[in-house]
Amino acid sequence: MVGFSAMNLALGRGKLYLRHVRIIKAKMKVKTQSKKVNKAWLNDHVNDPYVILAKREGYRARAAYKLKEIDETFQLIKPGHVVVDLGSSPGAWSQYVRRKLSPKTAVGGGAAVGELNGSIIAIDLLPMEPIEGVVFFQGDFCEQGMLDKLAQELGGRLADVVVSDMAPNLSGIHSADAARVEGLVELAVDFCQSHLKPQGALVVKLFHGGAYDPLVKLFKQSFHTVKPMKPKASRDKSTETFLVGLGLKSVAKAQQ
Ligand SMILES: C[S@@+](CC[C@H](N)C(=O)[O-])C[C@H]1O[C@@H](n2cnc3c(N)ncnc32)[C@H](O)[C@@H]1O
Repeated sequence: MVGFSAMNLALGRGKLYLRHVRIIKAKMKVKTQSKKVNKAWLNDHVNDPYVILAKREGYRARAAYKLKEIDETFQLIKPGHVVVDLGSSPGAWSQYVRRKLSPKTAVGGGAAVGELNGSIIAIDLLPMEPIEGVVFFQGDFCEQGMLDKLAQELGGRLADVVVSDMAPNLSGIHSADAARVEGLVELAVDFCQSHLKPQGALVVKLFHGGAYDPLVKLFKQSFHTVKPMKPKASRDKSTETFLVGLGLKSVAKAQQ
């Protein structure tokens, strides 16, 4: 015969088990009243290992791991470097670069604080929460005024690495979206021709389809080495990919 306390224990365990199931289910399913929110996307997002990792490591976005993988593959960002971050908000790439340029391993998560061995200049249309030591400009990279501000901040220095995660708000009209992506990447290449060291690197985000082939061609005309890369943190479903250009073919104008 099962004793009273053993029965209680079994019931208790049963309750505990049910509670666990509820927690696990709650983890896997996101409840939302809004019909506008894509529930499948939201469920994928909260269970995404990079979202979980970003939360744990204090990064503002999972995007940090895309740059991390690109950087670790090509050994781009080194102590003392001048790095320009185009399309920087909410700031995960800048946080990652800040960490790489910190002499001591950062305590806690996200961006490091304290000594910064190098410079980081960031720009975005949207505001960005400050990151210690990162110079941020809010504005449109396509406007001459913003290009002048970036040049002024560089103060005649040439960047070692320019990274661009810039993405326009997609309209859904394929040809128009492709043209806007193409325009942003062309501008980033143009910026490098004036402000990147001859041995420097440019990383840009672009999308398969539309403007991909002409942009690879432009990169090949502009850089000695061109490598496409789809980091693991970039979702399989997304046509997003990255191009890395190493070593400018023509010397940056700011140096002439
Ligand atoms: C995918 S997000 C960047 C995420 C960022 N790399 C991070 O790690 O947090 C793309 C950003 O590009 C910015 N953007 C798009 N067009 C831009 C432009 N013309 N000038 C400046 N920023 C732009 C958007 O405002 C958006 O914040």
